[in-house]
Amino acid sequence: MAMKEVMEKSGISNPRGLGITAEFSVDPANNITGYKSFRAGKFQFRRDEYFAYIETPKGTHMMSVDAFLRALMRDVAWGFFYGTVNFDPVFGTTNFYGEVDMFYGALNEAYVSEGRDYIERFKSDQLMNIFKQMISDWTNAGFDPFAAPRETGVPWGAKNGDNDGAVSRQRVTARRMVGMKGDTPLRSDKSGFPVNVMFHDVDQDQPEVHAEPGFEGEVSAFNLFGYLSRSDVTWNPSVCSVVKDSLFCPTTEEYILPVEHGNDRCEWFIQLSDEITWNIKDGSSGRPKAVVQMKPGDVACMPADIRHQGFSPKRSMLLVWENGSPKLPELIREGKAPTVAVQF
Ligand code: PHB
Ligand code: FE
Repeated sequence: MAMKEVMEKSGISNPRGLGITAEFSVDPANNITGYKSFRAGKFQFRRDEYFAYIETPKGTHMMSVDAFLRALMRDVAWGFFYGTVNFDPVFGTTNFYGEVDMFYGALNEAYVSEGRDYIERFKSDQLMNIFKQMISDWTNAGFDPFAAPRETGVPWGAKNGDNDGAVSRQRVTARRMVGMKGDTPLRSDKSGFPVNVMFHDVDQDQPEVHAEPGFEGEVSAFNLFGYLSRSDVTWNPSVCSVVKDSLFCPTTEEYILPVEHGNDRCEWFIQLSDEITWNIKDGSSGRPKAVVQMKPGDVACMPADIRHQGFSPKRSMLLVWENGSPKLPELIREGKAPTVAVQF
């Protein structure tokens, strides 16, 4: 059932002054493919055996369904993430933290110059509700959109079961640090996190901690390389330690980051193992800017006004260091904070 469309303004940052769309619907499963269709405002989503189709008032966009589901999985598990999640150079979402824009062509110079761009704004929880139903319905048994391609089945074909266990995973977010009392636990064989075959050479020893009496709950250490070697997902930075707004979000990577992430703040990358090549493009036009090849020990700072997509030929370990301050996007938009973290 479609809800009435509500256009209202909110106090949340809204640089384009868009009203809120609150119109959603789910169409019954298609007789031939078995998949439901979904509508959010004037965006209509359907899938068939190979493709996802996004119909908008300015045109219909097609994506290979494996790429679409991998991108949708990240948007869902990350709660629309920081800034923009470009599913590809045409379609994506921009997070305004409470509200979210969904766009077609709006961050693509060619689409904009031809007037083919289209944006609608939603309450985040309402759009998330539709996205969650979509990832659940469109993911077949045996396909895990978080897994590296060599570790999972295929998404093709007519509807065949589901993989709700896999698609309902949320990213790890430690309150203080992984392994501390009452915080997110370490990984082990027993808890269902075996060492990945590409990381069998990673030492699994844990550090010894000898806390002074009275500080037993405050002093903690763990083997981060061992922890990462047991990650069952790829391209999913999880918050493993927190000091005020400083968030260490390490992740294991293999194959291609399924989104072009458009930053709304600077973020640091420290390559912990193996190699990742990053394609960097301008955040709003999509014009190519740079290719950055990172080898173990390399450190890079991604500016706040770019989008980037990583390619990892072997499973690698990457530390993403985020500044979680909610004030940053607005400060950067207003020109009160720089788009680069260092100037030489
Ligand atoms: C990023 O956008 O900075 C990002 C996203 C996912 C990753 C790594 C980096 O796995
Ligand atoms: Fe990023």
